[in-house]
Amino acid sequence: MGSELSRWAAKDQIDEWIASVVANQTFADIGGIGVNSGNERITFAIQCGAKSATMIDFRPADYYEWDIFRRVCAQKEISNYREMASIDINDPQLYEKIGSYYVVHCTGVLYHMPSPLLAFENLATVVEKYLIVNTITVPERIENKFGVLNFSEGIAVFLPGIGEYERSILREHYQTKFGWSIDDVAPRLSNHEKTIMPWREEGQLSCWPYWWLFTDSSFRSLVQVMGFQILGEYKWEDHTLQIFAEKMRSSEQSLSEREGRSGEGDSPSTGEEFWARAGAYPRNRSSDSWRTSAYSTIRRLFLPCYRVALDRKLNWVVSVKNRLKRVLLRK
Ligand SMILES: C[S@@+](CC[C@H](N)C(=O)[O-])C[C@H]1O[C@@H](n2cnc3c(N)ncnc32)[C@H](O)[C@@H]1O
Repeated sequence: MGSELSRWAAKDQIDEWIASVVANQTFADIGGIGVNSGNERITFAIQCGAKSATMIDFRPADYYEWDIFRRVCAQKEISNYREMASIDINDPQLYEKIGSYYVVHCTGVLYHMPSPLLAFENLATVVEKYLIVNTITVPERIENKFGVLNFSEGIAVFLPGIGEYERSILREHYQTKFGWSIDDVAPRLSNHEKTIMPWREEGQLSCWPYWWLFTDSSFRSLVQVMGFQILGEYKWEDHTLQIFAEKMRSSEQSLSEREGRSGEGDSPSTGEEFWARAGAYPRNRSSDSWRTSAYSTIRRLFLPCYRVALDRKLNWVVSVKNRLKRVLLRK
């Protein structure tokens, strides 16, 4: 931790993670002005010696929560931060619009996303090294006077789809625990247009209701499948799971690495090759089969050299190999 830390107390585990890596580095808080900036981390990152700190949010710059955020900064005598308003985490141009940051904090956002995988994929593009992310996770078992729900490891609950039995148990659970109603944050499809958080607004899927509840296990898997290694986590009120993760050298590279390892024996190296061998592609793809076998042969011949290159972190070899793959497999 930086020397600054002795002056600034960490209020929770997230602050400790930030303090451990942010000194002299770039930092971004994505979706950080919400809930009246109660969880913003810009001020703490700057107090810990961040080289720059950027608040990024979907809301336009004149939205009242931006003013609250500015007041919070002023009260802490922090002024050397940057603002980026009207930024949508789902935007495929996210990286082009906001650039990348050594440490990215993004909490309270993913469960509002209709397509959390798309949002997370975009998010990953703007993380250089460390990501602090969370979501609401559903307990593995909820039992109350309305019944019992069990959610096993790989589950993600699609809230627009829950039935009345699940709804009554979840309503009781959240009402008792936090005093809010599942019917407000995840309205019934039958009357959602008349509620405060409809699923669709002006013909678009909305970013305000709760769309998905992951289990702890499925959320961890989501972080990992996006190319991150989990370094730490903590659970708040058996309700949200916070994860501190490090980006693997590059998700593309790490996939190649795994591909390299699994390439022993005769197993197909990519999903595409697998389905091609299984004859699953429509006819017009079958003319590509010579390319697939050419690529497989080249890959098999050069696999030992490729492994050495991976071990020695010779990135140019990886990119030549990936380019070859793209050309031959038309990716
Ligand atoms: C529930 S608040 C979370 C605030 C804070 N990060 C926290 O953990 O309490 C959700 C925040 O995400 C922002 N947001 C919602 N949809 C977004 C999107 N598509 N892209 C970027 N930010 C978004 C909202 O404006 C809001 O600031």
